[in-house]
Amino acid sequence: WWDNVGIAPKDPILSITEAYFADSSPRKINLGVGAYRDDEGKPVVLQCVRDAQAKIAGCEFLESLSRQGSMKLVDESVKLAYGESSDVVKEGRFAGVQALSGTGACRLFAEFQRRFRPEAQIYLPAPTWSNHRNIWRDAQVPQRTFRYYNLESKILHFEALMDDVKNAPNYSFFLLHPCAHNPTGVDPTEEQWREISYQFKVKNHFPFFDMAYQGFASGDLDRDAQAIRIFLNDGHLIGCAQSFAKNMGLYGQRVGCLSILCKDAKQAISVKSQLQQIARAMYSNPPVYGALLVSTILDDPDLRNLWVKELKVMADRIIKIRAVLRKNLLELGSPLNWDHITNQVGMFCYSGLTPEQVDQLTNKFHIYMTRDGRISMAGVTTENVAYLANAIHKVTKS
Ligand code: LMR
Repeated sequence: WWDNVGIAPKDPILSITEAYFADSSPRKINLGVGAYRDDEGKPVVLQCVRDAQAKIAGCEFLESLSRQGSMKLVDESVKLAYGESSDVVKEGRFAGVQALSGTGACRLFAEFQRRFRPEAQIYLPAPTWSNHRNIWRDAQVPQRTFRYYNLESKILHFEALMDDVKNAPNYSFFLLHPCAHNPTGVDPTEEQWREISYQFKVKNHFPFFDMAYQGFASGDLDRDAQAIRIFLNDGHLIGCAQSFAKNMGLYGQRVGCLSILCKDAKQAISVKSQLQQIARAMYSNPPVYGALLVSTILDDPDLRNLWVKELKVMADRIIKIRAVLRKNLLELGSPLNWDHITNQVGMFCYSGLTPEQVDQLTNKFHIYMTRDGRISMAGVTTENVAYLANAIHKVTKS
């Protein structure tokens, strides 16, 4: 039956973790996957999550959720994205469903887009998270790219971005990272977001935000949602994928939300029913437990405050370790400019290392990262930063 099946290409991110685990060197460092680690290099279970676990233990039926998923989770998620007091939330002008983390939210949306706007393409930033290409490919949505990052200057390629937005056919779909762009760590400024939003209005483009790292760019949830709020104020109907994998450290629980803003509450009912139907055929209901943890934390003022504090601790550790890595490189006498390490935000540093330099780091120094030179800063610790800086200096010297 399956003679025609060859081995699938390796995932560029997940295969790095596999290679890391297969390495027996005590010096090895995993800078591949974007998963938070503390300064000891260990995964973290947040205290607010432990408290929520205790709070829900034994007091909830673990029945399968209704088709709309956890209503409380969705209601709290949209407030995080669009603002506590936003009119779209108050007036119910959104279709929101619980999703299997950010990936599942994107996949649901891609499927929805193909069904109801089959003529439209999706424009993905160049570069973007590698899985975005898989998601829209599998939903059979034609995809294009728009220019985003200037490899030479290591900043946003703003003019090129605006040109591509202007030159795309009217009514195109664009995927935007509202904060902590993956992989570059470079976000538009507030003013640039305003200009992008304005141009989207002119062109009638649809903005789809994949918000996987809310809180990780600045440590502040509202600030990290600024791009979304700008588009909202400009009257756009937006789509938004949210994930609690990173900002609550619930990677394996797969908790997320997909919301699509609608012109009125009636339209929202139709859109939501279609999203529910798509989900029903794919996986029926999302899992319950993680969603209960998230909604318990968001709904309880004490747990929520604790979460905000713990999120800031995670974001601040990454900001600090960026500075230490840069300082180490300068002290080693590296003649290269490493300002981008501290200018970039969020979990990643788009280092500018070439694929060959990355191979050398892996082969000679047991340092693992994707071949595009993306460093997951969460893997850098006080203990390994000097070793890492030395290795980067060695492979970039000649
Ligand atoms: C990453 O970019 O490393 C994360 O989003 C994790 C993943 O699943 O790829």
